Amino acid sequence: MEIYVPGAGGARPLVPVSPAALEAKAARAMKPEAAAYIIGGAGTEATIAANRAAFDRHRLAPRVLRDVSRRDLSVELFGRRHSAPILLAPIGVLELVHPQADLAVARAAAAEGIGMVFSNQASVAMETCATAMENKPRWFQLYWSSDDAFVRSLLGRAEKSGCEAIVVTLDTTLLGWRPRDLDLGYLPFLRGLGLAQYLSDPVFRSQIPADPPATATQVRGFQIVSTALTLRRKGREFGLTMNRMRAAVAHFVATYSRPDLTWSDIARLRGMTKLPIVLKGIRHAEDARMAKDHGVDGIVVSNHGGRQVDGEGATLDALPRVVEAAEGITVLLDSGIRSGSDVAKALALGARAVLLGRPYVYGLAIAGEAGAREVIRNMIAEFDLTLALSGLTSAADLNPGCLAEKP
Ligand code: FNR
Repeated sequence: MEIYVPGAGGARPLVPVSPAALEAKAARAMKPEAAAYIIGGAGTEATIAANRAAFDRHRLAPRVLRDVSRRDLSVELFGRRHSAPILLAPIGVLELVHPQADLAVARAAAAEGIGMVFSNQASVAMETCATAMENKPRWFQLYWSSDDAFVRSLLGRAEKSGCEAIVVTLDTTLLGWRPRDLDLGYLPFLRGLGLAQYLSDPVFRSQIPADPPATATQVRGFQIVSTALTLRRKGREFGLTMNRMRAAVAHFVATYSRPDLTWSDIARLRGMTKLPIVLKGIRHAEDARMAKDHGVDGIVVSNHGGRQVDGEGATLDALPRVVEAAEGITVLLDSGIRSGSDVAKALALGARAVLLGRPYVYGLAIAGEAGAREVIRNMIAEFDLTLALSGLTSAADLNPGCLAEKP
């Protein structure tokens, strides 16, 4: 009714309601390199297609003549009640699509009462976003740097910022093969974007050489070049000179990833934080079992929205076996969620909640905070309707019996 009633007077929604139209409008609103980075995926993008195909293959089997006049969408995650089984996925470099970036998203999430996972590659420091969210739920996503002192510093900051879980992303110890970005020769981090958690960190800052050389810097075969406008703006924001900013990017490139990360590091992480630990990027049942054996609190079945391994299977197809192997620890799912109906299918197959990725970025690109907010609102409204029209009154009632037999 929030749409139809104003619609009778000629008003139209701020962002397209249909997922395809939303993506198309956002693509037009973004610069080409931003659209490539946000929308694109690994290789032939077969995994992006597979994620969607799995949602399309699974069908709901609604029941009728049940009293659905009152519904409860809430779910409990790590001792905290969330008003809907949807959190915003960690998405880096949001300054590519809107100047207010993560801050606009944090405000949108808080206004709609859902949780947000702060990205390690954010464009706004976690403390600023946390303040904007007041007491609403937020988690921190970690990319495990090769520098443990920096990792400890991030964990401490996340705890102080009121984050309620640490999400360790495991599918991106190396950056995937992404033709759209490769064709443009474009990687935002090399231009100083998406580095707010680093530049606001005392440990990271203390490691940037105080007086770096003025020439372009070579690290791991990358040449760090200055893109004057952006770096100058960011340089001022974080109180760094151009030279020091260039050195900061070089230090980031040298330390951002740890391809040698193993299960023993996850065991070590237990001693580094009191917060629940969630492993993001689990797709194999055996890894789910190992996660459980290592005492983690949750996992996110994710293939990074099809951005890492081209040709791997859909997360929704992996979900049932992962849930079985994870035996009782909290399982979330992302990659390809585009509608409230998708949320219902993921929950029916055993996910406790989902992470919403690209769609909220599309809302942000089109209409800033209000656009992100409308995307979230639409997603929750459609999930609520799907539940009711399936004859259910609670998100917790979704189970495999709510799905049709596969053809
Ligand atoms: C991501 N994702 C991601 N994940 C993460 O753990 N840290 C990050 O910084 C990012 N950054 C990021 C940037 C962009 C542009 C995209 C599209 C994705 C992955 C993200 O958290 C999530 O797993 C996917 O976006 C889910 O897939 P959908 O919903 O986008 O299909």
